This record gives sequence, C-alpha cells and structure tokens, in this order.
Amino acid sequence: MQAIQVTRFGEPGVLALTELPDPAPGPGQVAIDVTHAAVGLIDVYIRQGLYKDREGLPQPPYVPGLEVAGTVRALGEGVTGFALGEKVVALSSGDGQGGYASVFIADQASVVSTEGHSIDPALAVAAIPNALMAHVALTRAGRLSEGESVLVHGALGALSAAFPGIARQLGAARVVGTVRAERMAAAAATKLPYDTVVDSARLPDALDGEKFDVIVDPVGGLVRTRSLDLLAPSGRLLLVGNASGDWNHGIDGNRIWYGNFTVTGFNSGGYLPTHPETFAPAARAALKAVADGLADVEIETLALADAATAHQRLEDHSANGRIVLTP
Ligand SMILES: NC(=O)c1ccc[n+]([C@@H]2O[C@H](COP(=O)([O-])OP(=O)(O)OC[C@H]3O[C@@H](n4cnc5c(N)ncnc54)[C@H](OP(=O)(O)O)[C@@H]3O)[C@@H](O)[C@H]2O)c1
Repeated sequence: MQAIQVTRFGEPGVLALTELPDPAPGPGQVAIDVTHAAVGLIDVYIRQGLYKDREGLPQPPYVPGLEVAGTVRALGEGVTGFALGEKVVALSSGDGQGGYASVFIADQASVVSTEGHSIDPALAVAAIPNALMAHVALTRAGRLSEGESVLVHGALGALSAAFPGIARQLGAARVVGTVRAERMAAAAATKLPYDTVVDSARLPDALDGEKFDVIVDPVGGLVRTRSLDLLAPSGRLLLVGNASGDWNHGIDGNRIWYGNFTVTGFNSGGYLPTHPETFAPAARAALKAVADGLADVEIETLALADAATAHQRLEDHSANGRIVLTP
C-alpha cells in the first residue's frame, strides 16, 4: 500500500510518501480501502514531537492520521455486521498505523457504517468523527440540557465546527461562536448552525453581557481565561484542546468557586476506550447531524503525497475548514 510515514519528529518535510506491505485484519478488525483521510492539528503536534514522551503515542517511523473514510476491504476473524464494499468511517487508536495510507486497519468497535446515508465520503471523514466526539463531550462532560446556551471558541476549526450541529440536535436554545478577527468574513459565510459569531479579541464586550451554560474551548490561552466572564451561574467550561499553543494563561480557582462553575477536560482518545457505551449513540447522532446538513464544513482535498503541504497549512493557519487527503 501507499502510505505517508513520519520518518523522525520535526518539520512538515519529515512526512515521506512510501510503499509498505498491505496489512491484513486480525481478529475483531476491519481492513478499509481508504478514499479520504482527515488531517487534524493533533497530527501536527504529534509529528512535531510535542507529545513524544506521552505513553501510547507513536515513535517514528509511524503512519499518522486518526480518521478515515473508505470501503470495507476485508473482515478479520469474528467480525460481523459489515459487508465487503460497505461505506464506512473509522477512527484510529493513535497507535502509529494511521489513516494516511491506502489501506487502514480499524478495530471493529471504531467503525461507523455510512451506507444508506448518501453522505459524501470527504464530508463523512471531515465531520462524523468530530461530531461523534462533540456528542460525547456535550452529553457527558458538558451535561448539556435542552434549552441551554452554548458558546464555541475557534468556531470554524475542525473540532469546533462539529459542536453547533450537535448542540442544536440536543436542544440548545442558542449557539454562538467566536473566531479571530481575520476569520470574521469566513464566519459570515459559514453554513454551520451558529446564531452568531463574534470576534474573540473583543470578548467579553462583543457579547454584550450574554452568559452561556456551556463553553467549548479547544483554543486555550487568553480566550480560556476570558471564558470565566461568559459563564452563566453553574456553567460548564469544557477544555478540549489548546490550539493557541499558549500555556501561560491560567484559570482563577476562586472564580470557579464563586460561580459554581465546572471546568472539565474532555479528550476523546482517553475517554472513548474507557466509556465504550458512549460510542454507538454518539455515532448515530453524528450520522444524523451530518446527513441533516448540520455540520457542513468547508473541505479542501489534497493528494496523499501532499501531506506535508497539508501540515504546513495547518501550522500557518491558512486552511479554510478541513483538509482531507486522497490516496
Ligand atoms: N478533545 C478531543 O478529543 C480533541 C479531538 C480533536 C482535536 N482536539 C484538539 O483541539 C484543538 C483544535 O484542533 P483542530 O484539529 O480543530 O484544529 P484547527 O482546525 O486548526 O482549529 C483550531 C482553531 O483554533 C483557533 N485558534 C488557534 N489559535 C488561536 C488563538 N490564539 N486565538 C483564537 N483562536 C485561535 C483557530 O483559528 P484560526 O482559524 O483563526 O487559525 C481554529 O479555529 C487542538 O488542540 C487538538 O489537539 C481535541
């Protein structure tokens, strides 16, 4: 098979197109002919070596990529419920045998069938895994109830873009996004179901005193600190990433105490394996949200061989929406 390998931690240039033996599925596994592999900021961080000492994450040489769309190529021993050629989306455990390849081996439990949903595979891989994570994050960590309000930072980012549709599906009364000033034009054109999107540099004033029951924060830094001014009493602040790369802005514990706030982390890589019962309902919700047009993200398609360009674009913040690679 064709695959991209990270040959050593470093710059995007360490991503090299290579030929590897076709892998075969083991017991409980599904082999997938990959048509589209999504590129995420987490792939960039791992390639840079930011998490090189974290247990369970790969060491070079490894194949990156955590999300694929494609068709079932072969079934491992004991696998039922999938047919050869069936259209699927799958998530990787992050073991270094990832999705930037023409063949991907998934654990059966991480495969979602998209058959019968007429969802374009590029959109399927761009939106379904993140919508699945958004569902688990909002229901479990965020404990979102019908009629509540949600604020999403980095509103057009890959992970963030999945939250407004799932929040709507769960009955949120109002969903607002924040973006940097340079993204305001893109925000005005987005099809994502936000009520409004405001400039994050103008927080909290841009929201005119409005408070939110749940705030989703994959950005961190100053935006995270300012979120304490935007939480309603008993509000929940969900920390789901740190795209700003800013580790210097903390959260004042006394503010959490006075406001009866909950500040909670959600990391799907750690949560889903320990809460497997959340996967199936979240996958159903994600499929429905995407099929209902609630997660229509901008998608840019590049060839597998252009993985380095894709990573560079994410590092430069010049990607508009999601980048997917086609083997
Ligand atoms: N919790 C989980 O299970 C999970 C799953 C997937 C990803 N993540 C994490 O979520 C984060 C985002 O990943 P992604 O793939 O969605 O990346 P992405 O598509 O690059 O999105 C990042 C977003 O953050 C915004 N941003 C970056 N720096 C900012 C700053 N200083 N101020 C305001 N906004 C800023 C970006 O705005 P611009 O568009 O203006 O650059 C963009 O909207 C990463 O930390 C990733 O590790 C977590």
